Amino acid sequence: MDIRVFDGKKKLASFAADLFSEVIKNNARPVLGLATGASPIDTYKELIKRFNAGELSFKNVTTFNLDEYCGLPKNDKNSYYTFMMENLFDHVDIDLKNVNIPDGNAEDPEAYAKEYEEKIKAAGGIDIQLLGIGVNGHIGFNEPTDRFSEGTHVVKLTDSTIEANSRYFTDSEMPRYAVTMGVGSIMAAKKIVLIATGRAKAQAVFETVKGEVTPSCPASILQTHKDAILLLDKAAASLLK
Ligand code: GLP
Repeated sequence: MDIRVFDGKKKLASFAADLFSEVIKNNARPVLGLATGASPIDTYKELIKRFNAGELSFKNVTTFNLDEYCGLPKNDKNSYYTFMMENLFDHVDIDLKNVNIPDGNAEDPEAYAKEYEEKIKAAGGIDIQLLGIGVNGHIGFNEPTDRFSEGTHVVKLTDSTIEANSRYFTDSEMPRYAVTMGVGSIMAAKKIVLIATGRAKAQAVFETVKGEVTPSCPASILQTHKDAILLLDKAAASLLK
């Protein structure tokens, strides 16, 4: 695992945007795996800036998002669909036909999850996957458990995740279930970029890097990926030495 520690979020985001720009420029049909949460916001801002400067186009880009809450209307202010439109897609030249965000309201969630997985494969697989990390070491919504998940599936959120994310649900109740790409789907990406900032992530980062590879810290599996890079600020890296 390659680990980089940055002096400030801006430098980190600029480095992450470099990695994504490189993939976008060097592939005829780039496939990006995207994430939500606070961690990737500055990276999306940086990509939008480069698009506005005429340095980058998303015309040929296909995207797959990691996850979505179950039971929220697509346009709810807390849905990951809304997050992605507001933080990236509304501001660049991507063809929305090529944007894939898991549907948290599928009639048959299992069949839908299979379809999502097939779609990733049909697009040629993910060239570069962006990740945040939960305070409990989750990636996407793959919560700590006793075995690593494989493909896209529905999960019950843990109390720790509900506590961490309920700050966004100021006037409605936070969903208890979500649909997420599996650890297997994430690990199939050719390159993985995980962003973690802030003291609250330090323990999860420590376990990811120094702990054993175990499904009780899902992000620890990145130790076994051949091209995974962790981008950290000093606070998130503070337990590593
Ligand atoms: C959510 C998302 C994850 C994200 C995590 C951390 O649970 N499902 O994909 O990585 O939150 O979010 P934040 O970056 O806001 O700390």
